[in-house]
This record gives sequence, C-alpha cells and structure tokens, in this order.
Amino acid sequence: MKAVVWHSVGDIRLEDVHEPKIQDANDAIVRITTSAICGTDLHFVRGTMTGMREGRILGHEAVGIVEEVGGGVRNFRPGDRVVVPSTVACGVCSYCRAGYHAQCDQANPQGRLAGTTFFGGPEAAGGLDGLQAEYARVPYANTGLVPLPDSVDDAQAILLSDIYPTSWFCAKLAEVGTGDTVVVLGAGPVGQAAIACARLCGAGRVIVVDGVADRLELAQRQHAETVDFNAEEPVSAIRELTAGIGADRVIDAVGIDAACPDHGPAADSLAGQRDEFAHEVRETAPEQNPDDQGTWRPGDAPSLATRWGIQMAAKAGTLGIVGVYPPQAQHFPIGEAFQKNLTVKMGNCHHRHYLPHLVSMVASGELDPSPLITHWSGTQDAIEAYRAFDRREQGWTKVALGIGGPGSVAPGRGAAAGTGAATTAGAHG
Ligand SMILES: NC(=O)c1ccc[n+]([C@@H]2O[C@H](COP(=O)([O-])OP(=O)(O)OC[C@H]3O[C@@H](n4cnc5c(N)ncnc54)[C@H](O)[C@@H]3O)[C@@H](O)[C@H]2O)c1
Ligand SMILES: [Zn+2]
Ligand SMILES: [Zn+2]
Repeated sequence: MKAVVWHSVGDIRLEDVHEPKIQDANDAIVRITTSAICGTDLHFVRGTMTGMREGRILGHEAVGIVEEVGGGVRNFRPGDRVVVPSTVACGVCSYCRAGYHAQCDQANPQGRLAGTTFFGGPEAAGGLDGLQAEYARVPYANTGLVPLPDSVDDAQAILLSDIYPTSWFCAKLAEVGTGDTVVVLGAGPVGQAAIACARLCGAGRVIVVDGVADRLELAQRQHAETVDFNAEEPVSAIRELTAGIGADRVIDAVGIDAACPDHGPAADSLAGQRDEFAHEVRETAPEQNPDDQGTWRPGDAPSLATRWGIQMAAKAGTLGIVGVYPPQAQHFPIGEAFQKNLTVKMGNCHHRHYLPHLVSMVASGELDPSPLITHWSGTQDAIEAYRAFDRREQGWTKVALGIGGPGSVAPGRGAAAGTGAATTAGAHG
C-alpha cells in the first residue's frame, strides 16, 4: 500500500509498504478514505519533536471504513464507517474512565509514564504507525473508533479526528465562559477551529494573532478580530483592544515551532532576545535539516507563544496550551504568570472523550467544520502538500489527503465545503 514514511529529519517519502495486520484481539484494520496533514506532523520533520524511528508511517488524522476486526472487538464490523481519534487509549483504566484518554495507563507499550500514545509519532508516544496510509491498524478498537452517521461526510469528519476535539479541549482548558474576551495565538487549523469552539463556549470576543496574511484573513472571515504580529506589537495591541485589561482567556495554538516576528515593532522589541531564542532552538531541536527552499525550518522563538500568552492575559486570567511542547522544552516565564495569579492548563487532547459529542453536533447541523479545509491533495502529491503546508504557503492552511487514490478525494457535501471560504460554526454566536 502507499504511505507517507518518515526517514529522518527533513526526509519524508511516499512509499510502498506492507499492509498492517491484526496483532491483538482488540485491533481493527481500517481502510482509510481521507487523512490529513497536521501541524504536529511538521514538528517531526523539522526536528522539534525528537525520537522518531526510521520507517515510521506518519499521520494521526483519518476517516475510513472498518476492513477487519480482531476477535475481541464486539462493537464494530467490517463495512462500518468511522473516524479515528488521534490519541490511543484503552478505555478501561481509571484515567480513560475519567475522560483523561491522553493519559491512558495501558495504551503505551513504553509504559504508563512514557506519555500520550498517538498514531505516527515518536517511540515514546507508543511507536505506532500512522494514518497517512491506505490502511491502518487501530489498537483498542472498541474505544479507538468512533462511528459516523451517513449524514457526516469525510470533509466534516476528518476535522473531528484531531483538530476540532483539540480546539474544543483548549477552550475548556482556557476556561472560556460567557462573555469572555479570548485571544487565540496561532491561526493554523487548531487556532481557526478554536474561534468556533470559543464561541460555542460563550466567548464574547475572539481575537486571533498570527503573522501569515491569508490565515489571518481566514480568521477574519469567521468574524474574529485579527492582529498581525509583523505589523503591530501584539501584546500592546491586545491591551489597547481591551482597555488595558488584557484577555480573560488565552489559547496557545502555536507550540514549539513559534516564529519570531521578522519585521515591525515586535521584531524590534525582541531583538535583544534573539540569542536566548537561538539557545532554546538548539536545546529543543538538536538535529535540523532544512533544505535550500526554506522547508523544514524549526520555529526561531520556541517559547514566544507562551511568553506572549502570559503577557496578553488579564490578571487572574487563564492560559490554555495545546500547541505542542516536547519534553526538552525548559523555558516558561513562571514568574510573570505567578505575579498575575494566572491559571495555566495544558496538554494533549483527550480526543476520544470529546469526539462523540462533536460528531453529534455535526450531524445535527450545529457545527460544520468542513470549510476549514483549504486544500485537497491526492496520494501522489502528499510530499509536495507537506512542503507547501510547512512553508505556510497561501491557501495551504488545512490539507486533507485522499490517501486511497484520487477516487477518495471528495470535496464534501455543501458548496462551501473544502473551500476555506465560509464561516465555521459559532460565527453567529
Ligand atoms: N495538544 C494536542 O492534542 C494537539 C493536537 C493537534 C495539534 N496540536 C498542536 O497545535 C499546534 C497548532 O497546530 P496546527 O495544525 O494549527 O499547526 P500550524 O503549524 O499550521 O499552525 C501554527 C500557526 O501558528 C502561527 N505562529 C507561529 N509563531 C507564532 C507566534 N509567535 N504567535 C502567534 N502565532 C504564531 C503560524 O504562523 C501558524 O499559522 C501545533 O503545535 C500542533 O502540534 C496539539
Ligand atoms: Zn493533528
Ligand atoms: Zn486507558
């Protein structure tokens, strides 16, 4: 079968690999109809998340059809249409039962303290092959698959695999409530979805900060207020927009590959911190392999999103962090957060916990995530699609992959699906 395979930092390839087989009674094999590329995948190729094994199939977002189940899987049959939660969880341990699926005690073969288990990640994350492939093995399939009604199409469901659960989780982490002013750092897919999720949680105002013009435009089309960090100093801009108070809630949807502004007043005010950032980059991305086309470059200001987040928050406000930080990231401005009595919550999403509710919201028409897909690629173009997404080229905000061949690249139901043109849910809230 065809799959996107990680070879080393800066080297991924589309290759023919062996199809997965059932290894355990609780496994299912899923034929993937739609996959997607995520900002998390970029960390592995840029070298900002270490510990990948050569030959690992990438990807942790998928919609598909159950092909085969092991003898222990009692609730799915071949032919069932499903969305796959990005993180793997047993569904049995006390953490899973409490809804902390990303902290499952059993799913990680590396042990209960190794960290969150997810598809297509480092060995410490379970060393599981990913979902940018024609077929995938899903462990703990009883809980590791979520059924899809026919009314929810692939264009909607692929965004429920990781992006919308993560943004929903982050709105909860940030304690977004009625009337709150919410700042979303990062206008990538997670940040875009966070606009809708914050509104669904009652946000009064949503302000999005990024430095990429077409991503800010996409946020504005959802009627978020936008701040371009290459045009304005973003902390001052947020203070001005909030009568000097700051934001009640801040969402970090950036993570370790945070970029330093390259021009404007924020670039000037951070000039003195460049050496410190360079030190952080060496610490977090010891091995790098950018090419001469500017691809696979680690972010040059790893701690900047959290620094800004803390500075933008109102006193006694909340910072929710879903942008990913690897274990080797050591720099967090604890003193500034302490002095403001901030609440800070963070972590990997408990996808399985939030997914069924989100599927229901889509089926009922309350949420249509599909307009967030800005580009559809077929298998043959997967690596070029990765490059365009890595470089944040115009129009490449969220890339869906029809891995099973051109036939499975379906632009979805509504006229706006897959165009990135329309507003997503909560735009009227
Ligand atoms: N916690 C989880 O479970 C979970 C799940 C999915 C994704 N993630 C993480 O969320 C983050 C975002 O994912 P994505 O797919 O949207 O990625 P992405 O790379 O497309 O988006 C990141 C965005 O942040 C912007 N950015 C860079 N530096 C910035 C700064 N200093 N201030 C504000 N914005 C800045 C970039 O221009 C980009 O638009 C990634 O770190 C990803 O790994 C976490
Ligand atoms: Zn993802
Ligand atoms: Zn568990």
